Amino acid sequence: MNNYKEKFEKMRVAGNLAAKTLDMLTENIKPGISTEKIDELGYEFIKDNGGYSAPLFYRGYKKSLCTSLNHVVCHGIPSDRILNDGDIINVDVTAIVDDHHGDTSRMFSIGKTPIKAKNLIDTTYEAMMKAIKILKPGVKLGDIGYEIQSHVEEKGFSVVRDFCGHGVSTKFHEPPNILHYGKKDSGAELEPGMTFTIEPMINAGKYETKLLQDGWTAVTKDKSLSAQFEHTLGITENGYEIFTESVKGYLKPPY
Ligand code: MF3
Ligand code: CO
Ligand code: CO
Repeated sequence: MNNYKEKFEKMRVAGNLAAKTLDMLTENIKPGISTEKIDELGYEFIKDNGGYSAPLFYRGYKKSLCTSLNHVVCHGIPSDRILNDGDIINVDVTAIVDDHHGDTSRMFSIGKTPIKAKNLIDTTYEAMMKAIKILKPGVKLGDIGYEIQSHVEEKGFSVVRDFCGHGVSTKFHEPPNILHYGKKDSGAELEPGMTFTIEPMINAGKYETKLLQDGWTAVTKDKSLSAQFEHTLGITENGYEIFTESVKGYLKPPY
């Protein structure tokens, strides 16, 4: 892929706005806040900073971000649900700036959470970062999945199969699919200029998911807890760039 410098410049701007939105939300996500309020704060912040929330009106979705609580795997819809002590939640923000998308999510722990929830969140973050750290031209898509799956299964958790990471740039979702499980030295090779997400969804129990009646909310079939982190990344000549790095160093809870 020739001359991707301009694309990376734009991905950097969009990614940075998405990350700053999560940084702002981190300072507001506390017991007593509703997921709808999180949505409203995110919408306003992105708009006030020259962007647009990609989820809004995407395939009929009616909110600006996703709030996935406890056993929700992904695509939880903001509502009047209040966050309580012991909840864990993923907030997934996608900002569009100058036609380019920055897609990122983090976990939040509300008050005091069970040790199993903390382990699940830590393992999910570690798995994402292990996969990111191997990225460079020539590495294969299966190597990404292998890094995540081997780490997660060693800890006794499971990798969701029904959702995956994705190419992202001027489109919200584009090829290739980035599976979070896989075999070493299999699949397509990474090339300079590629931009995609890594966003493992990890369950405390089994990996099967179920879609709720609203057509969006995916939950664990066995009602076990689920966690997720997401970064938007670019492949450079000899490594990678994370476009959605926290500006405030908010990596994982506790923040
Ligand atoms: N941000 C999600 C992802 O990581 C996609 C959300 S689509 C929505 O790919 F419509 F539910 F917002
Ligand atoms: Co994504
Ligand atoms: Co996302």
